[in-house]
Amino acid sequence: METTSSLPIGVFDSGVGGFTVAREIADRLTHESIFYFGDTLRCPYGPRSPEEIQTFALQISKWLCRQGVKLIVIACNSATATGLEAVQRLLDVPVIGVIEPGARAAVQVTTARRVGVIGTIATIESGAYTRAIRSLDAGITVFSSATPRFVEMVEQGLRLDRNPVEDIMAQAAEIFIRPTFSEIARDYLNPLKRCKIDTLVLGCTHYPLLTPLIQSVLGSEIKIISSAEETARDVADILARRRQLAPATSRPLHRFATTAKNPAEFVSLGSAIFRHQIHEDVLSLVPLQELEGEKAI
Ligand code: DGL
Repeated sequence: METTSSLPIGVFDSGVGGFTVAREIADRLTHESIFYFGDTLRCPYGPRSPEEIQTFALQISKWLCRQGVKLIVIACNSATATGLEAVQRLLDVPVIGVIEPGARAAVQVTTARRVGVIGTIATIESGAYTRAIRSLDAGITVFSSATPRFVEMVEQGLRLDRNPVEDIMAQAAEIFIRPTFSEIARDYLNPLKRCKIDTLVLGCTHYPLLTPLIQSVLGSEIKIISSAEETARDVADILARRRQLAPATSRPLHRFATTAKNPAEFVSLGSAIFRHQIHEDVLSLVPLQELEGEKAI
């Protein structure tokens, strides 16, 4: 019989960016199975309205719950900023997002108490990071900036080559497009440097794949925070507290679902970021009508 502790952890994002969080969870909790959902067909979420993103977050969370998951991680900042509370109110399983863990990590690291945050338009306009950081330390000044082209850059860079993803993004910095990735990054990041931040939060789950590029523009003094590690720690704590950690004898069986039109691309990009091979026999293709038909629980 399947017990709650043997159920997978549900993780979702607008596309493949959330694999940066899923891989931290898989690395930290080596006995846990993950059920990853990438809503690639409706990616990007960032330029959409808060109401629309919240609707998507509710649809996917309900869908994951119906498959049987013991906890849900909203591995998308845009969906966390707009939908976390609504999803938490609706579901019986614990639901966590990526903003509070990222904010906590930044507060722990900053000494100048000047923190930069970059993210999608939806995330930055929600003000969620500023609220989360200042609720932990009201003396911190937060400088936020929407950097939507970084999502495009990750998607483009990933399509050019695959392995290992971060190296490609670093090499891609100078060569592929005009303006180059480096020029775009400088335009976005130089104003934040001038604000004398000492810490930068990557407020989008696609951005950790650009860490070498972002660090090279910022210089080594500015610390970069991705919420993935801190989120994985929260998952471990919650499951331990609820006595729902998978038994030490269990072997993880990851499963995947996507709305992608091109599942082969989802498989190859996802495998490169997740660092575990996604096999087509554990991948479900979910039509949008199925998500749109999700009823209240
Ligand atoms: N991964 C999403 C996030 O963390 C960004 C991509 C998108 O715009 O859909 O906000």
